[in-house]
Amino acid sequence: MALLKSCKVFSSLGAYSPSLAAFPVRASSWWSSVEMGPPDPILGVTEAFKRDGNPKKMNLGVGAYRDDQGKPYVLSCVRKAEALIAAKKLDKEYLPIGGLAEFAKASAELALGSSNEVLKSGRYITVQTISGTGSLRVGANFLSRFHTASRDVYLPKPSWGNHTPIFRDAGMQLKAYRYYDPKTCGFDFAGALDDISKIPEKSIILFHACAHNPTGVDPRPEEWKEICDLVKKRNLFVFFDMAYQGFASGDIDRDALAVRHFIEQGHNIVLSQSYAKNMGLYGERVGAFTVVCSDVEEAKRVESQLKILIRPMYSNPPMNGARIAATIMNAPELRQEWLEEVKGMANRIISMREQLVSNLKKEGSIHNWQHVVNQIGMFCFTGLKPEQVERLIKEFSVYMTKDGRISMAGVSSANVGYLAHGIHQVTK
Ligand SMILES: Cc1ncc(COP(=O)(O)O)c(C=O)c1O
Repeated sequence: MALLKSCKVFSSLGAYSPSLAAFPVRASSWWSSVEMGPPDPILGVTEAFKRDGNPKKMNLGVGAYRDDQGKPYVLSCVRKAEALIAAKKLDKEYLPIGGLAEFAKASAELALGSSNEVLKSGRYITVQTISGTGSLRVGANFLSRFHTASRDVYLPKPSWGNHTPIFRDAGMQLKAYRYYDPKTCGFDFAGALDDISKIPEKSIILFHACAHNPTGVDPRPEEWKEICDLVKKRNLFVFFDMAYQGFASGDIDRDALAVRHFIEQGHNIVLSQSYAKNMGLYGERVGAFTVVCSDVEEAKRVESQLKILIRPMYSNPPMNGARIAATIMNAPELRQEWLEEVKGMANRIISMREQLVSNLKKEGSIHNWQHVVNQIGMFCFTGLKPEQVERLIKEFSVYMTKDGRISMAGVSSANVGYLAHGIHQVTK
């Protein structure tokens, strides 16, 4: 109303006063110097997919689980937890800055194992965050403020596309260590060790705890052990990103092996967790950030600073997803059901990998596709070259990112044959 009134005054004044009428109504825009940014590479794939009229089209760009009918999948334990929560008619008051306490505790137990000495002694702090991305950002900002010994963050080459902007926007410098070997479509163990051995002391090194994105390539347990020893010798600070616990092997403990081993070996790590994939809570934005400290007193100080960091960012996290995750993890029957459902999702993906390779053989492909079954988790780094990817999109309406990464979660019994056919046609 106030705005309308002032417009009226302006126009009537303008009508009577030539000098005011000449006054430009709209000065040049505040944002005229803002340049158009490039579209997000993954969301761009989805846009192109949506425009495609081919009934056989496949979207293998996005990393979200689909059931064997190609439909988004809401876990049955999630539906049950939602019903339990709704029946309680809980209030919608603000959560504390660090989030729901029972969720944070259950998250730390899930990652570290409930009998972990760190949990027993209380020398850690876990806060609820806005999924994995929010956790990484809180972590990046915490390091930017308090890890004054070094600004350098070493990422595996390649890494999840969002790691670089997350750390860069928090004021850190990005570096890389060798990780993926295009010759074998596997882990470049020797290259990783060589690069890590040259990283300056006190730098930060980031590891994907399991189901490395985008390559699907993880170090073997004995390789993790060697990496852990070397990182200790180099006195590097370790950041674990665990976005797929349970989703890789189907076993939450097996997937946490690296995190637990590093802690056991004396690394006081930081850890990001996400429940997007392993509970299918993508849009609920449920995650956690943990700092393992030297003692309880240090954990208290770190907690106080995390709160100071989070308060002006988003004040406190959303409650719904955290309530769902906490209900599932803390009720034995629901937890059991969840573990079975995670295993079901992981096994479906593993079976799609096997079916893709056997269909490629049926098509007559003479290439070695062993890496497709060796890789783990949601993604497969096919080894397809950009021009082959382009042909798959144009000729077969099979959409994926330019680097040849496909989301195995988008492959089903009904379309795996078509995918194999397309891949064979562009690689033969
Ligand atoms: C390696 C990695 N880290 C973190 C995330 C964070 O995802 P979200 O913010 O949806 O939990 C993802 C999601 O794709 C990921 O692949």
